[in-house]
Amino acid sequence: MNIFVTGGAGYIGSATAEALIKAGHSVTVYDSLVTGHREAVPAGADFIHASLDDNQALAEALASKKFDAVMHFAAFIEAGESMKDPGRFFRNNFANSLQLMDTAVQSGIRKMVFSSTAAVYRSSEEPLTEDSPIGPTNVYGHTKLMTEQALEWYRSIFGLHYAVLRYFNACGALPGRGEAHQPESHLIPRVLQIALGQAESANIFGTDYPTPDGTCIRDYIHIADLVSAHILALGALETRDKMTYNVGSGNGFSVREVIEAARAVTGHAIPVVEMPRRAGDSARLVATPERIQKELGWQPQFTNMQDILSSAWEWHKTHPHGYSK
Ligand SMILES: NC(=O)c1ccc[n+]([C@@H]2O[C@H](COP(=O)([O-])OP(=O)(O)OC[C@H]3O[C@@H](n4cnc5c(N)ncnc54)[C@H](O)[C@@H]3O)[C@@H](O)[C@H]2O)c1
Repeated sequence: MNIFVTGGAGYIGSATAEALIKAGHSVTVYDSLVTGHREAVPAGADFIHASLDDNQALAEALASKKFDAVMHFAAFIEAGESMKDPGRFFRNNFANSLQLMDTAVQSGIRKMVFSSTAAVYRSSEEPLTEDSPIGPTNVYGHTKLMTEQALEWYRSIFGLHYAVLRYFNACGALPGRGEAHQPESHLIPRVLQIALGQAESANIFGTDYPTPDGTCIRDYIHIADLVSAHILALGALETRDKMTYNVGSGNGFSVREVIEAARAVTGHAIPVVEMPRRAGDSARLVATPERIQKELGWQPQFTNMQDILSSAWEWHKTHPHGYSK
């Protein structure tokens, strides 16, 4: 298939683009490099350096060949930032997604895989199924929810088949490919930067949550497992016109547990600073991934925090400055 990958210079998009190429697909990456890295675009992919808000560039790109599917990763991802500058998130994550959907259907494309998030759910003590109550606690999650809802209209009006993948916390690394957000706010790369001597201490935002150790609990999903979910979802779009799946391991780890595991893997003390809660964070987001397991036969391979951290540590040790030399 010819696949158009927005955000394919980013962490998850570039790993998926590489897997698509290995599986024999032809990939065009469309990325503004606002947070991504040219070096992350896999060899063998065509690369278009442009933003989704450039209507003309987008229309030309989508008309440049006959694409079979769009995989839409491009977005701003910092939930905390979305609470300070909501308009920037509504524009890039929602308005630009609409532009992409319009241009895609005008170009005759009828398949889209969309990167959504666990942040669409209301915080819950219980593991989250796809039927759990929706209720984003931050603007970022709301922009993804709005895009999910728009996709359903584009399905019913234009016949656009879609797969919504609600990722939990993406983490870990593949050979030569890892997390390199700038600024980095994700917990695992942050603590590994401390182990590398690039930062002094890790902030723990909130120690009074109703969880066993008072810190937030998250479901961590390894990048290799996220990639395999995309390949399966893309295949399923041949016969199914809509899918929404949680993509999480089903295992919850608290902030303190992740830091403890990082101490064990790196041998570094990893000092922490306890801070007040951060706006928009919820106490617990853990997946029930049964639906994607049952319907697509997906199975996460990385369910152990030490294995996840070991793969991430390998990437950070060998790429201490990410993709830059
Ligand atoms: N990382 C996670 O834990 C996580 C969790 C849930 C969902 N997601 C979603 O997965 C997707 C990928 O996340 P990531 O961690 O790889 O982030 P990332 O920042 O590494 O990648 C995003 C990519 O999108 C590009 N981009 C952003 N706006 C663009 C625009 N207007 N035009 C063209 N390119 C643009 C960036 O340059 C970057 O290469 C995002 O949609 C994110 O919301 C990520």
